[in-house]
Amino acid sequence: MNLFDVYPVYDIAIERAEGASVWDDKGNKYLDFYGGHAVISIGHSHPHWKKRIQDQLNKVAFYSNSVKIPLQTELADKLGKLSGKEDYQLFLCNSGAEANENALKVASFFTGRKKVISFSKGFHGRTSLAVAVTDNPAIQAPVNSVEDVIRLPFNDEGTLRKTMDEMGNSVAAIIIEGIQGVGGIRVATDLFLKLIRELCDKYGALFIADEVQCGYGRTGKFFYTDHADVNADIYSMAKGMGNGFPVAGIAIHPRIPAKHFMLGTTFGGNHMACAAALGVLEVMEEENLIQNAAEMGKYLTEKLHEIPELKNIRGEGLMVGFEAEEPFKALRNNLLFKHYIFTGSAKPDVIRVLPPMSITREQIDQLIDAIKKEISSIKQSGIETLSIGS
Ligand SMILES: Cc1ncc(COP(=O)(O)O)c(C=O)c1O
Repeated sequence: MNLFDVYPVYDIAIERAEGASVWDDKGNKYLDFYGGHAVISIGHSHPHWKKRIQDQLNKVAFYSNSVKIPLQTELADKLGKLSGKEDYQLFLCNSGAEANENALKVASFFTGRKKVISFSKGFHGRTSLAVAVTDNPAIQAPVNSVEDVIRLPFNDEGTLRKTMDEMGNSVAAIIIEGIQGVGGIRVATDLFLKLIRELCDKYGALFIADEVQCGYGRTGKFFYTDHADVNADIYSMAKGMGNGFPVAGIAIHPRIPAKHFMLGTTFGGNHMACAAALGVLEVMEEENLIQNAAEMGKYLTEKLHEIPELKNIRGEGLMVGFEAEEPFKALRNNLLFKHYIFTGSAKPDVIRVLPPMSITREQIDQLIDAIKKEISSIKQSGIETLSIGS
C-alpha cells in the first residue's frame, strides 16, 4: 500500500528529540523553533510527561466513555485552575478540527440558530464545519460549502457591527483565532475581541475562541483572549495540550447546559490522552512555562527588531512572525539546511516562530545569530538559489 500523498515533505527523518532539539537519522542535530506546527509546548520528550504516559500504559491504556474515567476530572480540575476558568465545563476530543466542530455544534444546539461568522485568513481545521468556517477554498470540497457561514474582514469593527445589527438574531456563533496562525501571525486587536464579546451578548450568540494554536500558555497568558480581558463562551484547545500526544478539548461556559448524547467520541478523554495532558499541565506549572513564554517572547521580539532586514515583526509571547521578502525569501530553507534550525512559514513571505515554551535565551541567541549570518551571506551572494523542500 502507498501513502496517500497529501503532504509535501522535507527529506528529513526525525529519530530522536529532547527539549528544543531534534536529531535526524543521519545524526544531525536541529534546533526546533516550530514544534511541528506549534504542538510542542513543554519541550520534546520531557521526562515527567514520558513517565506519566509510561505509568499509565502499565495500568490501562483505554476504556470508553461508558465508564468513569477519574483522570478526566483530574484534568478538568487542573485545566480550570491553570486557565482561571474553573467554572467552565470540559469536553475532550482528539484534534483541533474536532474541537472546533464540537464548539460550533454546541453553539448551534444552545442558540437554536445556524449562522456562523468567521474571518478572512482564519484557519479552523479540515472537518466539515471547521473547514467551512476556514478561509481557504482550496481545501473545501463541494460538500463543505455551507451557506450559513458569513466571512468578514479580520479586525474590521464597522463591518462586524453592521452585520450583527442586520442579522445578529440568527447568528449562533462568532469564531476567531486571537492570533491567526496559518493565516500568518495576524493579531486580533483588543478592541475587536471586546466588540465580539459585546455583540455576542447583545444578540445572544456565542463567542468561540479558537485557541488551538495561540492558546495553552504560548502567548504568555493561558488563552490569547485573556490579553484583551475578554471571556469567550467556548475555548477550543489542541496542539500544545498533549505536547505531541493527540488530545484536544473545548472549555464551555457554565451557563451552557450539557445533555446526554449531544456530543461524543470514542477516543476522546481516554486514559492515555488524559495522562499526557496532565503531564503537560504539571510541567507548565512546575517550571513556570507560561511566564517563561512571556519573557522569552519579549526577548525574541527585541532581538528580531535588531535585524533591519526583517519586516513587520508581530505576535505575542512565543507566537511570533515576520516577513522575509526578496531577496531574503530563501531564509527559511537556509536556516533549516545550512543552520539546522526549524521554523514555520505562512504565505507569501512570513516566517513563523513557535518554539517550545521552555526555550532559553541561549537558544534564541542561536536563532538570531543564524538569521544574521544568513542575511549577510544572502546579501553577499545576491539572491540565493537554495530551495529545497517547501
Ligand atoms: C487555529 C487552528 N485551529 C484548528 C486547527 C486544526 O487542528 P488539527 O490539525 O489538530 O485538526 C489548527 C491547525 O493548524 C489551527 O492552527
